[in-house]
Amino acid sequence: MYSTIAGTGRYLPERVLSNHDLEKIVDTTDEWIRERTGIERRHIAAPGETTADLAEKAARRAMEAAGVTPAEIDFLVVGTTTPDVVFPNVGCLVQERLGIAGCAAFSVEAACSGFIYALSVADRFVATGKSRCALVIGAETLSRITDWNDRTTCVLFGDGAGAVVLKPAAEPGIISTHLAADGGYKDLLYHPYGPSRQRDPERDVEGPFIQMKGNEVFKVAVKTLQGIVDVALKANGMDQSAVNWLIPHQANLRIIQATAKRLGLSMERVICTLQDHGNTSAASVPMALDVAVRDGRIRRGDTLLLEAFGGGLTWGACLLRY
Ligand code: COA
Repeated sequence: MYSTIAGTGRYLPERVLSNHDLEKIVDTTDEWIRERTGIERRHIAAPGETTADLAEKAARRAMEAAGVTPAEIDFLVVGTTTPDVVFPNVGCLVQERLGIAGCAAFSVEAACSGFIYALSVADRFVATGKSRCALVIGAETLSRITDWNDRTTCVLFGDGAGAVVLKPAAEPGIISTHLAADGGYKDLLYHPYGPSRQRDPERDVEGPFIQMKGNEVFKVAVKTLQGIVDVALKANGMDQSAVNWLIPHQANLRIIQATAKRLGLSMERVICTLQDHGNTSAASVPMALDVAVRDGRIRRGDTLLLEAFGGGLTWGACLLRY
């Protein structure tokens, strides 16, 4: 038995912040941001709008696309690094809103790889018959942990949520998932504080925001992503030419181009949403998937390669037949 994607959905907050808007906030230019990253605009959650709000809306759209009712969901997992509160986890918050008490509901904390990690877990439950209908969400409000005075990071990130419904199938579906991490890179991309390591204003100079060594992250990302897409193809004895669409984590256009080149894929075969969404961490891959499913580029039977990397560092890939 395998798991298969029965439906996809996404939700983006209403407010759009363009590169030109950012020119008024920090010392940057639209040209610099577009040339170095490929990003043109991003969505920002309204005051009071939380990760669970975005997640619920994306989830309802995915369930509608899959033709399932909330009552059918028996497993709920959310990839997020910006939960509403420490606990209850975002999965429980979404579960309560959907009125589906009883099923497992939790979140996975793997930064930008959160959706691939969550998908991998849900796939195991569905493919082994432990779940008949799983809801997998990637949702973030990164704007809440972004330093809006730091031009080296604030131009990159945005808010949003994407979701898929997984159901059992006799044929794949999800062919394989591959997860990896290297905590040795923890200092390249991180948030310095949390419930257990609180900020000491006497000692800690870093603010409570995303910290990043952009150049170094860039190099490691290119290397690890090229490695993991090779691993995914090799594990299934598949050639690069079998991939119809690459759905990469939307962090930087140049990183995406490097992975596409490795796969010998023209950029027409790569789903790019970062110009409109920025880097939405765990939400980026499921939102890109939903965009291309709904605009008709991705069709049933296509072979897709999903990949992501993020703080940790964590990275992962998923090969699937849509
Ligand atoms: N606007 C204008 N100038 C900026 C700027 C901005 N928003 N941010 C940085 N600069 C300046 C720097 O200060 C530097 O100036 P200097 O040469 O006078 O010192 C110059 O631009 C080049 O900076 P650099 O950091 O070398 O640029 P880069 O080409 O590496 O691009 C990133 C920076 C962050 C876009 C790029 O490194 C990147 O995308 N890295 C990966 C980050 C990532 O993906 N993170 C998320 C992982 S999930």
